[in-house]
Amino acid sequence: MTITETILASPAKINLHLRILGLRADGYHELHTLFYPVTGLYDTIKIEPGHDENMFMRCPKNPDLESTSNLIYKAWKAFGTATGFMPGLFVTLDKRIPMGGGLGGGSSNGATMLRWLNENAGDKALPLNELVALAAGLGADIPFFLMDAPAWAGGIGEMLTPADITLSGMTLLVACPDIHVDTPWAFKAWDQANDFPNLQESLTTPELGTKNPAPVSPLAIVNDFESVVFSKHPILRKIKEMLIQNGASGAAMSGSGASLFGLFRNKDAATTAAQALEKDGIEIFTMDCI
Ligand code: C5P
Repeated sequence: MTITETILASPAKINLHLRILGLRADGYHELHTLFYPVTGLYDTIKIEPGHDENMFMRCPKNPDLESTSNLIYKAWKAFGTATGFMPGLFVTLDKRIPMGGGLGGGSSNGATMLRWLNENAGDKALPLNELVALAAGLGADIPFFLMDAPAWAGGIGEMLTPADITLSGMTLLVACPDIHVDTPWAFKAWDQANDFPNLQESLTTPELGTKNPAPVSPLAIVNDFESVVFSKHPILRKIKEMLIQNGASGAAMSGSGASLFGLFRNKDAATTAAQALEKDGIEIFTMDCI
């Protein structure tokens, strides 16, 4: 096949709702979460023809990402191994989504690569269920980014159900303090804070007073990581409070942090909150929800 130069947008996500249901026998955690795509905040991935069956990757702003542990490279390698479609590529990644902030930038990049490969693989293309399984093997958040729409996720984040939800008319503010939360640490801290709740116990005996989370309204804006992450980084609680004091209808941390988001009905209130946070040196993105 002939590869033509293409520039792909690789969007961020927020978790409008994130409950940790318990620890599984394999060490992963069962989740119930609502992923929402943030199309106004995205990295770009430029794809150009390369040589033989090699991928050469550049990331001018973040050269440390030019490595075989990058999910773009891992996606290309895994797709090629599974299907035999391994085109020579020259890939340039332009990062705008802050890294290590719970906004899913790396996972999105991997999914964007997988989608492009599958769309160009001709008769080697995978059916959607196999593509999703391949994506889940690379990272729990990656399957979501294969869809273009909000989705509820169960399992470790890979069991997706489209969510009929729109934030249209609201202004989304994403605050990205210069704090990086290690996701495995956050899960372990949650385990310790909850006496290592075993998943079966969580599912069978919630009404008997275990320390596991109680069922909540699925539309609540909530994030179970906040208790442990806010204890370690109290500034994050202050940012959340500040968003609400400035008129956010709802605010929470995204993923395992440390980014926070606020949803505003009033755009001017969002602008005021953004200016106040920027004065404190916090990187802010605001956008109209469509
Ligand atoms: O799959 P991903 O690479 O995003 O996960 C990073 C780490 O977070 C895993 O190695 C695991 O320790 C933890 N994790 C978890 N339960 C999940 C997702 C991730 O315990 N549902």
